[in-house]
Amino acid sequence: MFGLPAVLPLRHGRIEVAPLRLRDWRELSASLDHNRVWLRRWQTTDPDGHAPADARTMVRGLVQAMNAGEVLAYAVRVDGVFAGQVTVSSIEYGALSTAQLGYWVSEDFAGLGVIPTATALVTDFALGPWRLHRMEICIRPENRASLRVVQKLGFRFEGRRRRYIHIDGEWRDHLCFAVTREEVPQGVLARFLTGTVPAHAADVPEAFR
Ligand SMILES: CC(C)(COP(=O)(O)OP(=O)(O)OC[C@H]1O[C@@H](n2cnc3c(N)ncnc32)[C@H](O)[C@@H]1OP(=O)(O)O)[C@@H](O)C(=O)NCCC(=O)NCCS
Repeated sequence: MFGLPAVLPLRHGRIEVAPLRLRDWRELSASLDHNRVWLRRWQTTDPDGHAPADARTMVRGLVQAMNAGEVLAYAVRVDGVFAGQVTVSSIEYGALSTAQLGYWVSEDFAGLGVIPTATALVTDFALGPWRLHRMEICIRPENRASLRVVQKLGFRFEGRRRRYIHIDGEWRDHLCFAVTREEVPQGVLARFLTGTVPAHAADVPEAFR
């Protein structure tokens, strides 16, 4: 898209996020098959009951949308091995300049801090060179592992959206968290690595749980 920088791979240590390419569909498909049970509770579903697109069609759609500046779709790799995805969607430019970030990691790589690092890398790119102002992450209240990710990174709790996203066959409430550019002048990754994340930003008040 005009005026926006190229989307390039980003890395910290053993963790790399690289823009999805058409040829990634085989690795993605194998990983989704392998993690079917692991992911089912947290995956979006079609409210009309249509089956999800196959991996090849999904990757083609994401690559096209990325070329149009509508999404940022990354493969996450650990030591070069495909480990999951981070996707920035619902991008609004102009006066909103906001987007939503979603993620998953293969069960084989869970608990290693892969997604906090990958999310920080992508958010820093989106709020920096990509010039967005705000990044949002919405999570089902039951998803304790994902709530830990926003706690670790200090995304700020904003509220609860009722029956917000169709997940695992039902409209599900979501807790929403965000950061704006001014909150992280040093960057999300640097704040995470230096242990300067605000301790209670992601706390969810009792009334919203
Ligand atoms: C949520 C998710 C992305 C976290 O990614 P991650 O890279 O494992 O993140 P972390 O390493 O920081 O671990 C986060 C928490 O997961 C939990 N966890 C750790 N190892 C785990 C394992 N083997 N299995 C399940 N949960 C585990 C722990 O509570 C951990 O918090 P802690 O570090 O304070 O102990 C990952 O669990 C996942 O992909 N889950 C399925 C899909 C999903 O929920 N996507 C997000 C929808 S909003």
